[in-house]
Amino acid sequence: MKLFLWWILIKVVTLTECSNIFPRFLYEKKEPKNEFRGEDRIVKGIDIPISYAPWQVSLQKVGATTRMHFCGGALIADRWVLTAAHCVKSVSRMDLLKVVLGVNDIKSSSVPVFDVERAITADYDLTTRCNDIAVLKLTESTLPARLRLLRKKNVGKLPPPGFYPKESCIVSGWGFKSAEESKLPDSLQAAKVRPMDSNECQIRYNQLGDVDILDGMMCAGGGETDACQGDSGGPLVCPSDKDGYVIAGIVSWGVGCATRGIPGVYTNVSHYLEWIQGAINPES
Ligand SMILES: *[C@@H]1O[C@H](CO)[C@@H](O)[C@H](O)[C@H]1NC(C)=O
Repeated sequence: MKLFLWWILIKVVTLTECSNIFPRFLYEKKEPKNEFRGEDRIVKGIDIPISYAPWQVSLQKVGATTRMHFCGGALIADRWVLTAAHCVKSVSRMDLLKVVLGVNDIKSSSVPVFDVERAITADYDLTTRCNDIAVLKLTESTLPARLRLLRKKNVGKLPPPGFYPKESCIVSGWGFKSAEESKLPDSLQAAKVRPMDSNECQIRYNQLGDVDILDGMMCAGGGETDACQGDSGGPLVCPSDKDGYVIAGIVSWGVGCATRGIPGVYTNVSHYLEWIQGAINPES
C-alpha cells in the first residue's frame, strides 16, 4: 500500500469541447464511434503493476474468437466482484461475460479467466444514472493461493458507513489512453484524483446543462487526471483513517474525460453498503 505514495503526475491532457454525458464503458464498434472521437482518452497517471491494485479486475465480453475488455471491477470478497450496473447491463448473456484478474496483461491468452455464476444489479436508472452498482459472483475461488499467485491478499476493503474521503484518491483501469489509439494499454493505469464535494460538483455540472449529482454519487477529479471510457466499473480507492485504502467509489460517468474543471462521477460505495451486504448474503 505504501507504494501508492509514489505518485508522479506529469501528463497534461489536451482538452476538447464536449457536452454529452457518457457512461465510461467501451462502446462496441457498431455504436456511433464518431461522437466519441477526441474524447475517449484516459487520463493519465502512470503504469502500475497489478500488485499495487491487486483487487482490480477486467470485465471482458466473449466474441466468436476474442475476449474484449470493456469495463473494470474490484474484488471485495473471495469470488465477489464489485462493478457498475451499466457494465453488467451492456452484456446480453451472462455466459458471454468473463472476469480476468491477477495480471497486468489482460490480453494475454494465458491468464486466469473466471466465469460468472450470478450477477446482481441494483435498480439502475439509465436516465439519471442513479444506482450504478452491481456485484458478480464468480464460479470459482479467487483467493491468491488458488491462483498460485504469491501475494497474500487480493480483496479490497469496503469503506466504513458514512465514509467521506478527505485526501486524494486513486482511480485505476485499462481504458484507452488516447482517442488515436485503438489498442488498450498494455499495463494497468492509475491516476490520482481529488475528491470534490457534491455541492461544488453540482455547480460545475450546472455549467453544462441539466445534469444532477444525486445521492449515491460522488465526484472526484476536475484537474488533469480522470477516468475515461473503458474504466467504468473500476475502483476509486481512497485513504481511510483506520483502514488504509478502501474502495470508496466505482467509475460511473463523466462529460468527456478530464474536461477542465469538470470532475468524474463515481458511485459512492459507502452509500450502498447495505445493498452490497444484501446482495452477497441474502439471508442475513
Ligand atoms: C457517501 O455516502 C455516505 C452514506 O450515505 C455519506 O455519509 C457520504 O457523505 C457520501 N460521500 C460523499 C463523498 O458524498
